Amino acid sequence: MNLKNNPEIDIIRASSTKINDVDFENLVFGNIFTDHMLVCDYKDGKWQKPVIRPYEPFLLDPSAKVFHYGQAIFEGMKAYKDNNDDVWLFRPDENFDRFNKSAVRMAMPEVPEEVFLGGLHEILKIEKDWVKKGKGNTLYIRPFMIATGTGVVAAPSSQYRFMIILSPAKSYYSGEVKVIIAEHYSRAANGGIGAAKAAGNYSAQFYPTQLANKDGFQQIIWTDDATHTKLEEAGTMNVFFRINNTLFTAPASERILDGVTRKSLITLAEKEGIDIQVRSVLVWELVEAAKNGTLKEIFGAGTAAVVNPIVGFSYKGEYFELPKVEDSIALQLKEKLTNIQYKLAEDPFDWTVKI
Ligand code: COI
Repeated sequence: MNLKNNPEIDIIRASSTKINDVDFENLVFGNIFTDHMLVCDYKDGKWQKPVIRPYEPFLLDPSAKVFHYGQAIFEGMKAYKDNNDDVWLFRPDENFDRFNKSAVRMAMPEVPEEVFLGGLHEILKIEKDWVKKGKGNTLYIRPFMIATGTGVVAAPSSQYRFMIILSPAKSYYSGEVKVIIAEHYSRAANGGIGAAKAAGNYSAQFYPTQLANKDGFQQIIWTDDATHTKLEEAGTMNVFFRINNTLFTAPASERILDGVTRKSLITLAEKEGIDIQVRSVLVWELVEAAKNGTLKEIFGAGTAAVVNPIVGFSYKGEYFELPKVEDSIALQLKEKLTNIQYKLAEDPFDWTVKI
């Protein structure tokens, strides 16, 4: 990895900072952004020089393809501060690789490592005061790319903009998370774009999620589009199920995002000697386990959500409350993961990268 390969980047400093106006104790996820953003344009078949400049709106032509065809991808990452005031990233190479896989799937140009990782390194050096110490405090990183080329012909753009924006964040969900198991709507289909972090994968979930919200549920656990029998992932996170003392999570696939938190938890669970099986859990297995008392935990895992216990699920109108467990595997794995991220424990896997 070439994170510290200092790219040629133009830097235009903000004339003032907003940091003193921010209430870091009461952050709503993704609402406040730091003083600077990174911008790198692609035109004439090549990436131009990146620039870090003050965070501000920018103009686009109304016919820019991102508005009409949703040619847009993103990543979610976080920076953490340790007790020595050093700032760390967690497995940034995974996000970089996945971003470029998403780019290929969406017929967009791949972003060079020195722009994505090198640019991230530079902007984090500038914004390091926005990363606050203490577990639970993070700087959420949103790299994204949009099609900026003009014209409403339904064909890939010839111009793109890659950007990185940064938002101080605590938790994604503020209360309990209850889920509905999808019976009709689908997140993704084989051959589609489910494995890409494409903007449309998320907006397509807004309407079914609104319906779920009206019934008091925060999220949907998606099932496979063909049979609606296999449990796949939730809107903002991958999902894990604990039946007795075995943990299950669905394999990453063309329909299921290869989540960085998900794969880290699998590795941690294996290291801890937890029985973990990467296979699809069927809806009937979950319902039966809930009925006979062997379903102990369901939890979501994602960069924004970290590890989020789910308190109950609904299927075909029947609600199943999960038991309160003393020996929560979700909380045990969350502790292990966050201790590594905040440099409170050894990092035997070399996952953390210092800025
Ligand atoms: C993340 O966890 O970073 C994501 O990208 C999910 C997003 C919808 C908040």
